[in-house]
Amino acid sequence: MGGLARLEYRGYDSAGIALVTDDRSRVATAKKAGKLARLAEALEETPLPAGTAAIGHTRWATHGPPTDANAHPHLAAGGRIAVIHNGIIENHGPLRDELAAQGIDFLSDTDTEVAGHLLGSLVESGLSLADAMRSAARRLEGAFTLLAVDASDPHTVVGARRNSPLVVGLGEGENFLGSDVVAFIEHTRSALELGQDEVVEITPDSVTVTDTHGNPVSREPYHVDWDAAAAEKGGFATFMDKEIHDQPAAVADTLRGRVDDQGRLKLDEGIVDEYVLKSIDKIIVIACGTAAYAGQVARYAIEHWTRVPVEVELAHEFRYRDPIVSVKTLVVAVSQSGETMDTIMAVRHAQQQGATVIGIVNAQGSTIAREADAVLYTRAGPEIAVASTKAFLAQITAGYLLGIYLADLRGNKFPDEIDALLRELDEIPAKIQRVLDTAAPIREVARSMADERTVLFLGRHVGFPVAMEGALKLKELAYIHAEGFAAGELKHGPIALVEQDQPVFVVVPSPRGRESLHSKVLSNVQEVRARGARTLVIAEEGDTVAADHAAHVFYVPSAPVLMTPLLSVIPLQIFALELASAKGYDVDQPRNLAKSVTVE
Ligand code: F6R
Repeated sequence: MGGLARLEYRGYDSAGIALVTDDRSRVATAKKAGKLARLAEALEETPLPAGTAAIGHTRWATHGPPTDANAHPHLAAGGRIAVIHNGIIENHGPLRDELAAQGIDFLSDTDTEVAGHLLGSLVESGLSLADAMRSAARRLEGAFTLLAVDASDPHTVVGARRNSPLVVGLGEGENFLGSDVVAFIEHTRSALELGQDEVVEITPDSVTVTDTHGNPVSREPYHVDWDAAAAEKGGFATFMDKEIHDQPAAVADTLRGRVDDQGRLKLDEGIVDEYVLKSIDKIIVIACGTAAYAGQVARYAIEHWTRVPVEVELAHEFRYRDPIVSVKTLVVAVSQSGETMDTIMAVRHAQQQGATVIGIVNAQGSTIAREADAVLYTRAGPEIAVASTKAFLAQITAGYLLGIYLADLRGNKFPDEIDALLRELDEIPAKIQRVLDTAAPIREVARSMADERTVLFLGRHVGFPVAMEGALKLKELAYIHAEGFAAGELKHGPIALVEQDQPVFVVVPSPRGRESLHSKVLSNVQEVRARGARTLVIAEEGDTVAADHAAHVFYVPSAPVLMTPLLSVIPLQIFALELASAKGYDVDQPRNLAKSVTVE
């Protein structure tokens, strides 16, 4: 159950387990709609027997609503086989028809049950579980991590993967399978990554990997160096609050040790020919949600430092618009999990068009980290709360490092300018700490606003993606309508939304930056105030002019303009966290969401 709890970030609509016992009698299962706690209650009331091999699952519904019947595991072969599955079986329709024609009754709406019965019918035809899995994997289309146990083989679990992740944990007299190493990190730190279209059979003493035709595959184990304690709450009431407080370390760790003996910045894994990076004429950042906002922030800096045009594209839109990509395009895939299916598919599309792909990824060994030509890891540590916070800051930091790296390589900046930028970044973690230490006023204001129905967020330049991120946090945590706008866009339409007492957050740029930017945003503030808005202003310490325009002002330390998003977003994260908590919502697992969106 501990492992399942750590995997709840992938989905928490329902949960279930199946186990087999030494007497080969049957597969025992328990499954419940709702969070894992409901399954735990059910197991306390009706415990399962001690098992020799077990599989467990937390679900994020794709086919069929989150009900007990649709929860995994699903049984097949008269109850002899149990399966669990992540992903989407795209040819489940024809397979269901084919199996129904053989007289099989389906008890759920899921594509998983179809895969289970396919496996079950192959086992009943005389194949071993592993051979049946290989045969089933060849027939299934789409994305799957499929695991199964068989009552007549009580010391074995078999798994297969295509497009969804599967990792093996290598223990002593015990072995594990998980979608992520966090599933077994409390038991072993030795892990082995399964490749595309591979099948694994584990027993307590053996691990056998083959391709789907049974040819042996050799895979090297690696050591997982994530700190298990970092995955716990560390004294905070919620993972989200803890992760917000992890942000100084997340940025500092992402910056650490990036310069090699020659004073050059270095990537973590993979090699991209310097000649290729010198010849690129376009950068496309692909990502989703918060990671895409991080990309939007990084765009301002990368373009400014390298003079290479940067586009930021939502990964799920990218390949459907026939993007102009060539061998001179650098694609930067930004992803905390490295498992977001939309982003994975965009990476593959870009590579097919000849682009070089660099991943900015948090999860070690994840699919995007493995498939990209090179990786710059964000060292934020495990992010458990569904709403992304520390990964966002680490992604921006890594994007800046990439921009500085390219500016250095391509000769856009002199070495002393590069050093100055790195020094400015080095000062950020201490400034983030100051924002955290002075957050009491934003918490108080947030608690007083629990009954608001809509909140607007405005920003310009790098403050624009910050405004959109602030709105996203509020939507996903507090279920309040929130929208982020470019402050200059307001008068082109959205200002019609403003009425008496409408709360409007405004991210005000530094008065020491481009003077016009500061005064333009303050003009926008006046425009909304004139129409009755209640303005909540994020401003640089000492900016007394901004305070004059605010019902509430929240100060952040001064920083170079391009670095300010790393500070100004924090009050917005805390605002959403506090307001959602005041409403009594679960901020770590908001409704309808999953931490890793592993389906397209
Ligand atoms: C919002 C959030 C999501 C993710 C998005 C991409 O708080 O967490 O918008 O940023 O689903 O996920 P990754 O970064 O794992 O690719």
